[in-house]
Amino acid sequence: MERPTDWDAQWRVEPLDPAAPDAEERTPRWRAQERLVLERFGSFARLQVVELGAGRGLNAFLYARRGARVTLLDVSTLVLSQAEELFGAHGLAVELVEGDVFDLPAEVRERFDVSMSFGLCEHFLAERRRRVVGSHLEVLRPGGIAMIGVPNRFAPAYRLWMGVLKARGSWPLGTEVPFSARELATLARAAGGEPLEPVYGSFAASVVNHGVNQALFKLGRKGLSVPQPAVPMLDRLGYELLLPVVRPG
Ligand SMILES: C[S@@+](CC[C@H](N)C(=O)[O-])C[C@H]1O[C@@H](n2cnc3c(N)ncnc32)[C@H](O)[C@@H]1O
Repeated sequence: MERPTDWDAQWRVEPLDPAAPDAEERTPRWRAQERLVLERFGSFARLQVVELGAGRGLNAFLYARRGARVTLLDVSTLVLSQAEELFGAHGLAVELVEGDVFDLPAEVRERFDVSMSFGLCEHFLAERRRRVVGSHLEVLRPGGIAMIGVPNRFAPAYRLWMGVLKARGSWPLGTEVPFSARELATLARAAGGEPLEPVYGSFAASVVNHGVNQALFKLGRKGLSVPQPAVPMLDRLGYELLLPVVRPG
């Protein structure tokens, strides 16, 4: 059974971190997106991009900063208004769509060059897991590419952190079931997409984020800035998993 998350309650208390976009730009998942976009489209300028379950649209913000035309889709009006303020404060245009990935509005279907999500798909189970992956392809025009970001099932620091919070009864979200690259690729193929090679985040980043910094926060201290060294085999145990999926032309 899926356990729902009260996203508005999360967004009401989540502080706005002005350093978040610059930190995100240093991650392997952003660097991989930048490389793939430049290889496929030559430039970000005027690309049509949508972030699904966008929250404040952190990755969409980086696309917008490079000249893409971005749309954020989310069920939460609260977070969309926070995103509007954030983009506005940086002089960036953004289109907001209040909508459900399981009932996509006609205005977003088959329209985008790039679709993406980060931290969305793992909150659904069974048939809804397949459908949420499929929604990334439904909003793309043929030849477009989806960037699907989820937690990696084989990330020990993240799994341990989640296990501790659940055992203590302080896990703040509802259902969250991480993915293997194989499961995600199978769902993407079933939805008619062509998965490319998965990209893993830095294992060291995951140890700092889910281990060292969590301990520091408990002690009332500031967290360390998160390093992003790449160690190819070890990074298969990192938290971030990004699967790029092409919608055939
Ligand atoms: C973990 S947050 C991800 C936020 C953002 N992508 C980020 O990286 O910060 C998940 C978001 O998905 C949204 N969401 C959950 N279910 C949804 C649905 N069925 N359709 C659209 N958005 C949904 C929530 O409102 C929430 O803002």
